[in-house]
Amino acid sequence: MTDFTWGVAASAFQTEGAIGVDGRGESIWDHFRSRAGDTGQVACDFYHRYRGDVRLMQELGIDAFRFSVAWPRVLPDGRGPINACGLDFYDRLVDDLLAHDIEPFVNLFHWDLPQRLQDEGGWPERATAELFAEYAAVVAARLGDRVRHWSTHNEPYCAAWLGYGLGEHAPGGTSPADAFAAAHHLLLSHGLAVSEVRRHARAAEVGIIVDSWPAHPASDDPAAAAAAWAADGLRNRWFFDALLRGTYPEDVLERHAAEAPPVRDGDLATIATPLDWFGINNYSRTLHDAEGRIVRAPYAPLTAMGWEIYPAGLREVLCRLAWEYDAPPLYVTEFGAAFDDVRVHDGRIHDVERIAFLDASIEAIEAAAVAGVDVRGAFVWSLLDNFEWYEGYAKRFGLVYVDYPTLARVPKSSFHWYRDLIAERKRRESGWQGKWYVGSVGAGKGARS
Ligand code: FCB
Repeated sequence: MTDFTWGVAASAFQTEGAIGVDGRGESIWDHFRSRAGDTGQVACDFYHRYRGDVRLMQELGIDAFRFSVAWPRVLPDGRGPINACGLDFYDRLVDDLLAHDIEPFVNLFHWDLPQRLQDEGGWPERATAELFAEYAAVVAARLGDRVRHWSTHNEPYCAAWLGYGLGEHAPGGTSPADAFAAAHHLLLSHGLAVSEVRRHARAAEVGIIVDSWPAHPASDDPAAAAAAWAADGLRNRWFFDALLRGTYPEDVLERHAAEAPPVRDGDLATIATPLDWFGINNYSRTLHDAEGRIVRAPYAPLTAMGWEIYPAGLREVLCRLAWEYDAPPLYVTEFGAAFDDVRVHDGRIHDVERIAFLDASIEAIEAAAVAGVDVRGAFVWSLLDNFEWYEGYAKRFGLVYVDYPTLARVPKSSFHWYRDLIAERKRRESGWQGKWYVGSVGAGKGARS
């Protein structure tokens, strides 16, 4: 196994800053404040500091960087005239990555919908799906000569449900019917965009990134099992079934008959367009009690987000997608954890909890690979501390600490640990090429001797 991709992931709104700079249009997140009132106005100022950050990536030794393109930077009104400066930024970023031997994994949507399109109804409107395909074509036409790995969306569940159903993310909607319509149109837009990307970027390998937290029953009570299955339906099966089987789960449609989305003939076939790869993001699991509440496992260790540390969930999701869904090659497109990082007397951040978390997660990925799952890469969320949506700057996920007042970057211990792990895995891979042994990432990819 010689070609496992080690990477880090990030998104436009969480890192770029430069809101309103160089002709960028407004996005729905520009108007949304975090719990503490933070905004993405400056974020990590990646828009201006990306060269330094690419050098940090090179020091880390990663193979690939997963980032997103901001739709309103490219098409300020969501459609129509292209903002040349916006597209130029991603052009320069791709060139700089390639010049440092880092492969760009371009994601087209990480939640920053142009405000103009939200004013016309946003994702609950079918027209948004069609406009997304036009936007995908614009980006693919410009970057497609250099970018091989493309994804359409990041976590459509969050964009639909946190944004339109639960009011936790922009644009703050609280209508389940809107959330279902948004979920359907996000998926439809994915299918439409896959064809556009392939048309404009001939060598493209196209996928999608789905968040995948297992939903488990908290007890043996059958009502808890039913609650977990219902949660799994909304969060996981809705997306897995549509994308990989071309159907929506019957039990979800029955349970939510009054809120069912407007599906037209042919939509599901478009959504299930065969993909080159499938990305999963996993951070934890949810536990459901007999009353349908989300509860915590007794004594469960938690991250600073309050999420249970449960690396086995990663293995479970990978195996489920490979075995139940016969998924295309898999990438873990996000894994990581927020902890309350402290800069100690020497100015450093000794984030041993993050190291333990990442180590256990990589072990879970390796276990899936050893079991025969075709998993081809893993991306830590994130290189830098960044704007964590509703949590703002209070939650830090980075391998690199960002001192927000000065925007200085300070690599944490986990940065050095990940650098050493990548280097060690590469040495091991070259020495053991073609062998089958426990602990070899991706050994299931036909590398048995
Ligand atoms: C994921 C998001 C990403 C980041 C991490 C912590 O759900 O895709 O933007 O916020 O969670």
